[in-house]
Amino acid sequence: MTPAPETPSPLTASPMSTGDAVRGLLRPDLRHLHPYGAPQLDVPVQLNTNENPYSPSDALRRAIAGAVAGVAGTLNRYPDRDAVDLRKDLADYLGHGLGAPQVWAANGSNEVIQQLLQAFGGPGRTALGFEPSYSMHPLISQVTGTRWAEGSRDADYGLSTAAAQVRAHQPDVVFVTSPNNPTGTSVPLALIEEVYDAAPGLVVVDEAYAEFARAGTPSALALLPGRPRLVVSRTMSKAFAAAGTRLGYLAADPAVVEALLLVRLPYHLSTVTQAVARAAIAHRDEPLATVAALRRDRDDLVTWLRGHGLTVADSDANFVLFGVFADRDAVWQGLLDRGVLIRNTGPRGWLRVTVGTPAENEAFKRALKEDRDL
Ligand SMILES: Cc1ncc(COP(=O)(O)O)c(C=O)c1O
Repeated sequence: MTPAPETPSPLTASPMSTGDAVRGLLRPDLRHLHPYGAPQLDVPVQLNTNENPYSPSDALRRAIAGAVAGVAGTLNRYPDRDAVDLRKDLADYLGHGLGAPQVWAANGSNEVIQQLLQAFGGPGRTALGFEPSYSMHPLISQVTGTRWAEGSRDADYGLSTAAAQVRAHQPDVVFVTSPNNPTGTSVPLALIEEVYDAAPGLVVVDEAYAEFARAGTPSALALLPGRPRLVVSRTMSKAFAAAGTRLGYLAADPAVVEALLLVRLPYHLSTVTQAVARAAIAHRDEPLATVAALRRDRDDLVTWLRGHGLTVADSDANFVLFGVFADRDAVWQGLLDRGVLIRNTGPRGWLRVTVGTPAENEAFKRALKEDRDL
């Protein structure tokens, strides 16, 4: 599935564009694609890209500033190419007996995914995902020349047929997103084991939202021992409240990490990125404390939406998928007209709202009540 363009890229809107001439030079397999396009609009309430709404405290800002000042004098040199200290910190955060050799980091989990597909996908190879899911999985697959196989989900967005689909497609890479974006649903470990046993290649469990899962939802990190083809990807963009830092990471067998060294660009993670990420990890108690509040507010939002007659998918993430609207574009626009930006994505008729601060959640509810006459 090609992600739909939500806003034209400013790069393609130029009246001076010599687009046709350049388009003819573009790789034919990229010509039909649209750039990732979640709108970045300057409106009072932004609940469309699943960020943590709480900005760093003064103490954390000082720690980050101190970390940057501490490395500023070294910026004439390239960074640690293998980001060893950062990987140790991340392994320590993840637990499960992991060490730096089993952890890899890059500029956001999007880059982690790109590196995985560069190394294990590519021309003549196939990646499979179960849609609706994260729209960058198919896009990065196609950009790396990997054929995308669009798998499906059950009516309640579950994955009871995932292993059978894996057997049918024999993909080189399988993506299982848990909790899934945009549905918010998480995948039981038994199902991930089934997918792993059925898969001939790499199984990537994208756990970008793992920290928001309801109590008792285990991470696929527990499945890593003895499964060298299993990869669990994570990000600091969500629970860690560090989307601007651009730091994603994975845990896997050391052989997977070694393979990624072949495709990563030299010095891909800047000294500043590594320093800021390490400062945020050292002060993680503070951003992670917001997760408990966001989970509570998410559950309240689900209850509120259901109480107003809407259908809501169970959510283990920091967003909620709700509907079902005959004209979801009109609802999205109605909210935007009231200063609330949510995401027009997911199955037909559904919309996705990120859980914000209590004031932002109230603004969302007010706007929806007004627009829908609830
Ligand atoms: C499921 C999923 N994976 C990965 C990402 C990418 O996150 P980042 O590149 O910021 O780490 C996102 C971002 O929204 C996501 O929803």
